[in-house]
This record gives sequence, C-alpha cells and structure tokens, in this order.
Amino acid sequence: MAHEEDALEHERASWKPSPGLAVAVPDPVQNPGLPPHRARMTDKDPAAMARAVRTVYTLFYLSLAGSIWAIAAYMLFPIESGRIVDIRNNNLFIGLGIGLALLALGLGAIHWTKAVMSDKEFIEARHATRGRDTTREGAVQAFRDANEESGFGRRTAIRGSLIAALAASILPGITLFRGLAPHSTDANPELGDPVALLKQTMWKEGERLAHDPSGEPIRAADVTLGSAVHVIPESLAELGHSEGYLEEKAKAIVLLMRLLPEDLPAEHNNLDWAYDGIVAYSKVCTHVGCPVALYEQQTHHLLCPCHQSQFDVSRSAAVIFGPAARPLPQLPITVDAEGYLVAKSDFTEPVGPSFWERH
Ligand code: FES
Repeated sequence: MAHEEDALEHERASWKPSPGLAVAVPDPVQNPGLPPHRARMTDKDPAAMARAVRTVYTLFYLSLAGSIWAIAAYMLFPIESGRIVDIRNNNLFIGLGIGLALLALGLGAIHWTKAVMSDKEFIEARHATRGRDTTREGAVQAFRDANEESGFGRRTAIRGSLIAALAASILPGITLFRGLAPHSTDANPELGDPVALLKQTMWKEGERLAHDPSGEPIRAADVTLGSAVHVIPESLAELGHSEGYLEEKAKAIVLLMRLLPEDLPAEHNNLDWAYDGIVAYSKVCTHVGCPVALYEQQTHHLLCPCHQSQFDVSRSAAVIFGPAARPLPQLPITVDAEGYLVAKSDFTEPVGPSFWERH
C-alpha cells in the first residue's frame, strides 16, 4: 500500500503537460459562495430598529459617564493624602470608571455595526494597486453610500453621543498625568516647588556620614585609597522605614571616595569641601536621576549605568562624557572631634536632573 502511494506521489511530482496541450485541471477548492442573505429583526421591524438605536446611544452615554466618574474618583480620593484607604479607593474607582468607559464604548460600536448599519454582503474583486479613475470615483461613492447606510450623517443622536464618548475617553488618561508632578500637601507645603524639594536634603552641619544601609558612622581613617563608599546621613536611620524614608534617602544618597591629595588639583577643586583627599558627591545622576554607582579608581571616573554619563572626580565631578549637563553636586565635608566624617552643610544646589533649575 505504502509502495503504491509513493509511486503515485512520484508520478504527481514529475507530471508536466505536453507543450501546446490545453489541460483542464479541476479547481481543488470549490468556492462555496455567500450564504443566502437573512434579514435581521431591525431590518424588518422599525420598532426594533428604534430600540437598537436607543441602546447604542445609551451605551455611548454610559461610556461618557464612566470617563467622568474616573475623573471624579481621582479628585475624591487624592493619593497625595498618603492614606492607604484613599490610595486603594483611588485605584479601584479610577479603574472601574475607565473600564466602564471603554467597555460601553466598545459594546456600543459593536451593536451599532451589527444591528443598525446595513449588513449587505458584497464581494470585492482584486485589482491593481492604483485603481482607474472610475474605480476611485466608485470608492468615493462607496464612502458616501456607507455614510448614508450607516446613518452616521443622519442619526445625530448616535453621532453626537459617539463623539462625546470618544472625546471624554481620553480625559481620564490626561488627568492621571497630573499625579506625575510634585504638588504641595497640608503636611508639606513646600512640595509644590521641585527646586526647593531637591535643594533640601537631610544633610546639615555636623551630620555624620554613615554606611548605607547599616547607618554605621564612618571614620576618615577607615576610608581607604581608591575605595568608593555608599553613604547616607546618620539620622536617616532614625526615620526607620516610615513614610518619607525612601524619598529622603533618594535625595541624600552620596558616594564617598578617597584620592591622593595631589590627584585633587586646587585649580579644579574646592579643597575646603574635601578632607585629606576624601570627597563626597551626590549619587543622583544629573541626567535623569539614575544612581551613579560605578567608580573606576585608576582614572577617578564615575560612570552612570543608565546612559553612560561619566564624571571626573579629580575635577569636581565634571561631565566628561554622556548626556548629563552639569557636574554632580558636591557635599562639603570635614571631621568632628572623634574623627568621624561630618557634613559642613547641606548641598548648595539641587541634586538630580538639571532640568529642575530651568525656568
Ligand atoms: S541617568 Fe545617568 S546618564 Fe542618564
């Protein structure tokens, strides 16, 4: 049996018609054609058509209500309050509002096409990519016919409600962008000003430099040549992991490095801000705020892994490569009576991305 099938297959593969011989090859796939058209209830009964039209615009208005509800929920449950119940309600009701808006919009569109628009089947023959002028005029006419048959131009209630629902459906998304900007709260009125927000960190005169994350204060004598130490203010540990801990840490985090004093030439560095070759710079990249964490001790270069900005620690952390626009802010440091490294003041400029400085 298998032998016969192999022979048949070989015969099929090697078969060629004789030149000039017309061979009638039967079409292997028969075109079944379109099934007979069945009129819908809305085609036969004007009352059913009116009901379908009402359903469509009711769904579009429902979508409009969902969008408005999402915006109202954003205002009713402000996440800035920091209360967990508000954050939960904010997420829940904004999600429900947007879900309702999109679902009702989709259902309305489907019902419109299935029950109200003309459902006449037609077959479009293949043709060249650019049609003849008559074909193009025919296409324009088809659009006119579609407009007429769908009732888009005529059914003003559907059209108006669809346009309103579509326009409103993008508003919740736009409203949510407001949450990206810092804004003041009763507890923190200065939060509305991003420059002040990033200019003030936990560093102050006498604040000890401590290891991240242990909070152990650091003696100048323990900082070895070529090392890079990740540093936080000692009092940050007192915040525990309460609200605000991460925000304060993200602003105040510092990298501490020890160079040979002769590698910090006075013409490029403010030596009053260094102690015996030890310098401290903000770890927040001035490009878009990634942590600058890679230190190359031979070249004294700091590298930001996000977009490859490089800063030269031996020249006041000046930018020597990459998209960052300004040097890393330096933290002025000295030692206290017990030999621990302490800050002389806070940073004198905002930490982080430099666009905060632009007005
Ligand atoms: S965030 Fe550092 S280079 Fe882009």
